[in-house]
Amino acid sequence: MDWGMRNRLAQIIKPNGRCMFMPIDHGYFLGPTNNLERPGETIKPIIEYSDALFVTRGVLRSAINPDNSKPIILRVSGGTSVVGGDLANEGITTSIKEALRLNVAAVGLSVFIGSDYERQTLLSLGKLVDECEEYGIPVMAVTAVGKELEKRDARYLALCCRIAAELGARVVKTYWCEEFEKVTNGCPVPVVIAGGPKFDTELPVFEFVYDGMQKGAIGVNLGRNIWQHPYPVAMAKALHAIIHKDATPKEANEIFNETKRQ
Ligand code: 5RP
Repeated sequence: MDWGMRNRLAQIIKPNGRCMFMPIDHGYFLGPTNNLERPGETIKPIIEYSDALFVTRGVLRSAINPDNSKPIILRVSGGTSVVGGDLANEGITTSIKEALRLNVAAVGLSVFIGSDYERQTLLSLGKLVDECEEYGIPVMAVTAVGKELEKRDARYLALCCRIAAELGARVVKTYWCEEFEKVTNGCPVPVVIAGGPKFDTELPVFEFVYDGMQKGAIGVNLGRNIWQHPYPVAMAKALHAIIHKDATPKEANEIFNETKRQ
């Protein structure tokens, strides 16, 4: 692996092989979603717990301080909205030149396997990988399921992750599911766990992240369950402990409760 690629990957994946990515890219199809109306304010108290931010160029330029930033994973796919025809109909929105100008550590793009736009989004992934490899930029593939969350089983997610890796993604982001080891075992590149819509309570979040880590994930890319929570700092600190300090769900819950009281 060339120096630039290694250096960029080392920026987002820490020496212990783990990572906690903080996604604040949701506005690219959801608009000003709850608690992300002003992304710069949302991340201020929790940024210290993240290893990288997943963000679009618009929010990056308008809300993130370039003098003191975490490594950036730039969202480069989009073109659809939650009120449009089909969330899966994405294309590439941002050039490699722009990614280089913004000095990003990686780029991220969604693929919608099993949708009408499977071929289009997978060919976009291949094209993006071709261009990014030329400049040593890692591509994170996001195995998106659109509105069809029921697709989240091990067979489907293992298929998605493997295909994304085969097409050259350096990191794959996917949802947690039962038998998560089937997803990680079949994927030759690191897998990070996405969060999905906010849970009503904390413990199930700690449990699925812990389970995913035990079964081979290297970390998370988890947003709403942190920054839509009434105690985002407590959530971020507890999840950070699971990812970087091998805390159990019970220990994470204690950290959550202690931090919440402060
Ligand atoms: C949106 C994304 C998000 O980065 C991803 O869904 C993770 O965020 P959350 O934990 O809120 O689901 O890719 O398309």
